[in-house]
Amino acid sequence: MSFQNLLIEHKERIQYIIINRESKLNALNKATIAELHTAFNEAFNNPAVGGIILTGAGPKAFVAGADIAEFTELNGESGRELARLGQSTVFDFIENGSKPVIAAINGFALGGGLELAMACHIRVAAETAKMGLPEVTLGLLPGYGGTQRLTQLVGKGKALEMIMTADMITAAEAYQYGLVNYAVSPADLLSKAEEILNKILLRAPLAIAAAITAVNAGTKDGVNGFETEIEEFGKCFKTKDLQEGIAAFLQKRKPEFKGE
Ligand code: COA
Repeated sequence: MSFQNLLIEHKERIQYIIINRESKLNALNKATIAELHTAFNEAFNNPAVGGIILTGAGPKAFVAGADIAEFTELNGESGRELARLGQSTVFDFIENGSKPVIAAINGFALGGGLELAMACHIRVAAETAKMGLPEVTLGLLPGYGGTQRLTQLVGKGKALEMIMTADMITAAEAYQYGLVNYAVSPADLLSKAEEILNKILLRAPLAIAAAITAVNAGTKDGVNGFETEIEEFGKCFKTKDLQEGIAAFLQKRKPEFKGE
């Protein structure tokens, strides 16, 4: 499948999804949102892909937000639909995916760009990256899950400060707040993301998927995360991977997981 707004690259079991609208600082227009859904759906369903690194084309931006030029056409109803469709097909879709997704934040991650990074399971930022939710400067609030995920990651006080002031923060500040897992030199950004992902890819894939499900359950209304954990724990006993993991431990060798 070829895309107008994305580049897809493979490096062994890692799939890169690169947002490629460099002249618009990789802003998320409707077409890019639709392509992101297709690309992630394909990656999650492709057995050759173990995990995904999401980044932006060029040195300047990861994603500088939703495409503001498309906002001129919107009204109350279509604005709500834009947020609902984006959340379900891309942001929630990534967060609830069965494979690990790492955001490699190579530059500006603003508005929908920071929201996209926050929907990923792990974030690595270049020290030169700037992050923020500037929607209130336009007369909006974050609409792709930012009010919820930023609060989960940094706490209510810092989230409200960032959202209400609209200030951008540096990668060092983002690291200090727990918004990104690592802040590294721009030259080391992709290798750090790959290092983390390659380590995850040595582990049992179904257990990784179960862990994503259980951790996410704790943030969902009306879902008992502890109960989800118990269910997922039980399901792992039906996998060949668990038998392999136990056998490898007892035989003092490295496990070879097949995701079965
Ligand atoms: N939507 C649509 N276009 C965008 C965009 C966005 N979110 N962010 C940047 N662009 C476009 C600019 O309009 C410009 O296009 P042009 O060359 O056709 O005029 C191009 O990308 C380069 O951006 P520019 O503003 O010239 O770069 P800069 O270095 O002066 O400023 C930013 C960089 C990120 C500070 C600035 O682009 C910005 O504030 N962007 C909007 C951020 C935002 O509010 N995002 C939340 C949206 S809800």
